[in-house]
Amino acid sequence: MVKISASIMCGNSLKYGEELKRLEEANVDMIHFDMMDGSYVPNIAMGIYLLEDMKKATEIPFDVHMAVWEPSQYYPTMAKAGADYLSVHLEAVKHIHRDIQSIRENGMKPGVVINPATHHKELKYIIKDIEMVTVMTVNPGFAGQKFIYSQLEKIAAIKEMADQFNPELLISVDGNINSGTIPDCVKSGANVLVAGTSSIFKGDDADYKALVQEMKDSF
Ligand code: DX5
Ligand code: ZN
Repeated sequence: MVKISASIMCGNSLKYGEELKRLEEANVDMIHFDMMDGSYVPNIAMGIYLLEDMKKATEIPFDVHMAVWEPSQYYPTMAKAGADYLSVHLEAVKHIHRDIQSIRENGMKPGVVINPATHHKELKYIIKDIEMVTVMTVNPGFAGQKFIYSQLEKIAAIKEMADQFNPELLISVDGNINSGTIPDCVKSGANVLVAGTSSIFKGDDADYKALVQEMKDSF
C-alpha cells in the first residue's frame, strides 16, 4: 500500500483549518509538516504552536520533517505538540543513533531524512531502528523545485536494505512528486509520496480528492 502524505506548508496559510478538512475528504494518509529553522535550510517555516493547533483539528497522523540543526532539544515538546512520526536529517545531528532512541523514548516514531548528496550506506546501522526513511528528491528548503533523478537508484538501494533488515520500513520521497515522477519512485521502492505544490496544492479551487486519485492512478 502506497501512502500519500500531504505537505501542509504548501497549503493556503490563511486557511489551514479548511485545508485540513479538504485533505480529510481527499483521504490522504498523513500530513507532512515541514519545520525549517532558517539555518539548516535557507528558509523558515512552520512552528510548534502551529503543529499543536493543527493536531487538535484533525485525526490524520502527522509526519513531521524537521529541517533544523540539532533538533534534539525539541523532542519532548514535539511529542507534546502531537508529532506521530518525527524525522530528522542525518546530516543535521551529531549522533543520529542516539537521536533515534531519544525520539522513540519520547513516544514518537523515529524517521531519518537524507539529502540528495548523502549515500544510502549511512543508513545501514540504523535502518532496523527506524520507522521511516525520507529520501529528499530535491534539496530541502523550498517547494516547487525540480526532481533529482539520481535519487532513484538510492531509493532502490534502500528498498533492498529494508527488505533484508526492516521490511515494514516506510520509504518516503519528498520533492517534486507528481504523476510524472511517481511511477519511477514507486517502481524503485517508495511507499510514501509527499504531495506538495507539484501534485495537490493547486489553489483554493483545486479538487484535492481528484488530484490524490490522479497520483494513485499514475503507478
Ligand atoms: C521541501 C519540502 C517539501 C516540498 C514539497 O523542503 O520538504 O515537502 O514542500 O513540495 P513540492 O511538490 O512543491 O516539491
Ligand atoms: Zn519535507
